[in-house]
Amino acid sequence: MVDRSNIDELIKTEDGSHTLLFPEDGETYHSISGAMTEAEWVYLTLSGAATRASEQLKTRILEIGFSSGLNFVTTAIRFRQANAPLIYHGVERRRLSTNLLDQMDHIRNTDVGRTLLTTMKKKSTPLDLHLRPDIRCTVYFESVDQHSFLENYYDIVYLDAFSPGKHPELWAPPRLKQYRKALNSKGVLVTYSAQGALRRNLDDAGFIVEKHGGPGKKKTITRAIVKNA
Ligand SMILES: C[S@@+](CC[C@H](N)C(=O)[O-])C[C@H]1O[C@@H](n2cnc3c(N)ncnc32)[C@H](O)[C@@H]1O
Repeated sequence: MVDRSNIDELIKTEDGSHTLLFPEDGETYHSISGAMTEAEWVYLTLSGAATRASEQLKTRILEIGFSSGLNFVTTAIRFRQANAPLIYHGVERRRLSTNLLDQMDHIRNTDVGRTLLTTMKKKSTPLDLHLRPDIRCTVYFESVDQHSFLENYYDIVYLDAFSPGKHPELWAPPRLKQYRKALNSKGVLVTYSAQGALRRNLDDAGFIVEKHGGPGKKKTITRAIVKNA
């Protein structure tokens, strides 16, 4: 009998885009209301990345929890359309099976997704993808505990980890301070979580914290802007 306890399950979300179910604790990688809707609203739009792309500003993004690369694909397509430079760094502790990735719409139906898949198949560490000379992605396959964070570098942090309840190490106060230090003085962090404790900890870590309406059925999500003394 095949042991399926470690196999991610492919799921169609309500906007027709794919997500995965993490077998260990039954959490999905994206909102069931719509994975693509979440990528576009929470990460690309609310973070200010879409505006920066339309203004052709060079933008440096750090993503915690790169996983299937949906946020990267959505963001990179927008920057390429706008002819804007992008440096995208991802941190991810677990490589997904490339056979599984190949079944996800954002991978198989976009040229950025297919390029990401081809690069992932090489299993290089870190993964290095140059979509164009000015649109680049590097993924560090390691846990945030092992990652050497750059300081005062990023314009945006996409905090797309699993939930604070189940993966507290990604949301703990010292970790939030690390994300804060990684951002420059105008930096913005966005996440789908709107937990009260998270918002208080972000405030303590040096952010101005805002609540915004979420995508689909999600009522609120969080945007945190670097506080300047
Ligand atoms: C919600 S999913 C991310 C979805 C992803 N952003 C996408 O667009 O497909 C959360 C990811 O965080 C990763 N993760 C969990 N703990 C981690 C850790 N300690 N360090 C780095 N990544 C971690 C998981 O392996 C998982 O792939």
